[in-house]
This record gives sequence, structure tokens and C-alpha cells, in this order.
Amino acid sequence: RKTQVCIIGAGPAGLTVHQAMAQIGVTSVVIEARSRQYVQNRVRAGLVEPGTVRILDDLGVGQKLLRDAACHKGLLLQLDDTSARVPFGDITGEPVYMYPQQHIVRDLISASDPQRILFDTEAVNVETGSLDAAVTVNHAGRHFRVKCDFIVGADGAHGASRRSLPDERKKSYERDYGIDWLGILAETAPLADELIYSCSARGFALHSMRGESQSRLYLQVPRGSSPSWTDDRIWQELDYRLSPGAARIRRGDITERTAVKLKAFQLENPQYRRLFLIGDAAHTVPPSAAKGLNLAVEDAACLAQALWAWYQDHERGGLDRYASKAAQRAWLAQMFSAEMTRLLHVLPGDTQFDTKTRTARWQRIVDNPIALRDFADHYVGIARR
Ligand code: FAD
Ligand code: DHB
Repeated sequence: RKTQVCIIGAGPAGLTVHQAMAQIGVTSVVIEARSRQYVQNRVRAGLVEPGTVRILDDLGVGQKLLRDAACHKGLLLQLDDTSARVPFGDITGEPVYMYPQQHIVRDLISASDPQRILFDTEAVNVETGSLDAAVTVNHAGRHFRVKCDFIVGADGAHGASRRSLPDERKKSYERDYGIDWLGILAETAPLADELIYSCSARGFALHSMRGESQSRLYLQVPRGSSPSWTDDRIWQELDYRLSPGAARIRRGDITERTAVKLKAFQLENPQYRRLFLIGDAAHTVPPSAAKGLNLAVEDAACLAQALWAWYQDHERGGLDRYASKAAQRAWLAQMFSAEMTRLLHVLPGDTQFDTKTRTARWQRIVDNPIALRDFADHYVGIARR
């Protein structure tokens, strides 16, 4: 059967569209450069908004998440030696879920017809006309062309689909915060039940978790410096930056390290003819507010709905509106991610003025119910609905 929708990238975004297409009987294929093993074990995000859970559950892939994820109703915000709990669950009526991104990827892959995801296959050329489209792929040195009605560019921040846009359609907006996050996964029980976002004079630290016996911890580090951090220095710095709100962390084996650049990027327009960009391919946010994964799934659901209307009724309004809806939602996430980044990090070039305004902002969120409500709405994602 002819492929109707060719999806590039088996991350959360591409696999969500793929699952949605299977449900409405539209034939899609996913092209993924890496192996199945690799994408199912890639450690990245872990905080899942309630809206994302709903989308996955409606697609029939939410059971494991709802069974295994920890539900969080609050977080601790810490600035120097003061801390305050943000009870976002009580404020908004909705919790967030802790479930590793690679498990979402696994659940989506398990739900798919295995023949419809081509692993170890790289998209090398993307062509889109106004009536049809095609993707040229390379599998083990053999090239072939997949003809389709639509191409979904879900190939992340460094993929082929964004590169294929004509120059006049590449307009984008960027912000580089000039620092990195060093994330570790450690074999040690979390030191608290909830996340701790902390900003100290030496910079940011985040305490998160993966289940009851693993901790996921992040530190702000100078750009490019992650490899030079010894385990000992990481633990010392975490102790310093996460106290006094927390007891000293029990050390454990560090089993994984990730470096993430704190950068924001957004395409002006994530659509060109029959190519639709979703997720990180269309926009990347700094990880500060954990929005990347959630935006990716949200874009996917929005595009899937539009494709459904097209195949069902030849109604193209949804497809025409996709780009502006996706961009608008992503800008809200960019705004909140930028605010969290400012609130929690000591950025290169910061002066005492920045320290003072950060403290004032922090105090406002903690003291003022309207500011707190707005923070909570953004954190759980309902501000984008
Ligand atoms: P991706 O998950 O990047 O998937 C894109 C897929 O396309 C990949 O599998 C890639 O192999 C494939 N691909 C690329 N090029 C091609 C090609 N030419 N042909 C075929 N396939 C191709 N977000 C948070 O919320 N919290 C975090 O802590 C966090 N940590 C992160 C750490 C790292 C190192 C990174 C890179 C991101 C992190 N993010 C985090 C962001 C979040 O993980 C992403 O927003 C999310 O993965 C986006 O999903 P996606 O499906 O759009 O893209
Ligand atoms: C996690 C990552 C984030 O960026 C965040 O804000 C919260 C949690 C995590 O990986 O657990």
C-alpha cells in the first residue's frame, strides 16, 4: 500500500503522529536514523504534563504510564537559603507525572506494526511540491525514495527536514543562555518526594527522580565543561547547591551523564507546502521548565487531528491553521522556559541588578496568589490550552 504520511524521526513527536495515523487507518511509515535499541534507551526528560498523559492515553498508550508514573502535586523552589513549596496540584487541580521519556518511546514503539518503523535508516533528502512529496532515505548504503501525500518532520533539533526548507522559509528566532546543564542518573534514593529547583550563589541545581531507587540530578555548568566534572566534584556541588532545603545526598554510582546546552530556537513558520515540522524540529526550549517533550507530543496531536480531518472529509482548515497554532503554543512555552531560566540560574554577564530582580520575582511568586497561580498554570501546562 502507498504510504500516505512519511514521518521522519522516532522520538516522542514522530511516534505520536504514527500511532494516531494507525488509529484512523491512514498508512504511515517512520524513518529513524538510529537503532531501536538506541532510541529506547536514550535518557532525556522525565516530567510529563497532564495534557500529554491525556493525549497518550486517548491513543491507547497510556496504561503503563498511568500504572508506573509517580504523580507530583508540588515542588520546592529554593533561592539561596530560603525555600517555598509551590502546591501546583491544589492550585490547578492537576498533577504532573514523572515517567522517563524513553519509556514513552518504548510504549509507542511496542504499539506499532514493527514493519512500519524503519530503524537505522536516515532521511537524506526531503522534497515537497504542492500536490505530492517524497523522502529519499539511506539504509545501509542503499538509497530509496518514499513517495507520500505528506511529510512530518519530527527529526529533532539537528534533523534533515528543517535543513530542507528554502532559505526564505528558514526565518527563526534564537537565544543562547551560554551555559549547560550536566544531568546525571545515580543509583541512590531521591532525597525528597518532590522536585527541588534551587538557585544558589554558585548557580542552579535540580533534584528529580526516576522511581524509588534512582535520582536524576542536574547542575548548571559553564558551556562545554561537563566532561571535566569528576563524580566527586558533582556530588560536592550538588550538596552545596541543594542545601539547606535538603538533607545531604546519599551518594551512589553515576550510571549516566547528559550535557544539554541552554538554548532556545524557534522557526517562524513550521510548515512548507506538504512538509509539517513538529517538536524539536520546529522549536527547542531550554530544559528549565521541562516543556520540550510536552510540546512535541502536543504538536503531534494537533497535526494528527488536522490530518484526520483531511483524510476523513477533505477538510484542509486544520492543516492550514497548524503552523500558527503550533507556533503560538510554543511561544508560550518559550516565555515560561525563559522565565524559569532567568529565575533559577546565574547567567554569564549577570550583575547585582539581575540578582536583585531575580529575588524580587521569586518573592512575588511566593507571596502573591495571582503570580503563584500563573506560575502553576504554566508549570502544569494548562496555560497553553
Ligand atoms: P527527538 O526526541 O530529538 O527525536 C528526533 C528523532 O529523529 C531522533 O530519534 C533522531 O535520531 C531522529 N533523526 C534525526 N535526524 C534524522 C534523519 N535525518 N533521518 C532520520 N531520523 C533522524 N526536555 C525536558 O523537558 N526535560 C529534560 O530534562 C530534557 N533533557 C534533554 C536532554 C538532551 C540531551 C536533549 C537533546 C533534550 C532534552 N530535553 C529535555 C528535550 C526533550 O527531550 C525534547 O524536547 C524531545 O525529545 C523532543 O522530541 P522530538 O520527538 O521532537 O525529537
Ligand atoms: C526533569 C527535567 C527537567 O528539565 C525538569 O524541569 C524537571 C524534571 C527530569 O528529567 O526529571
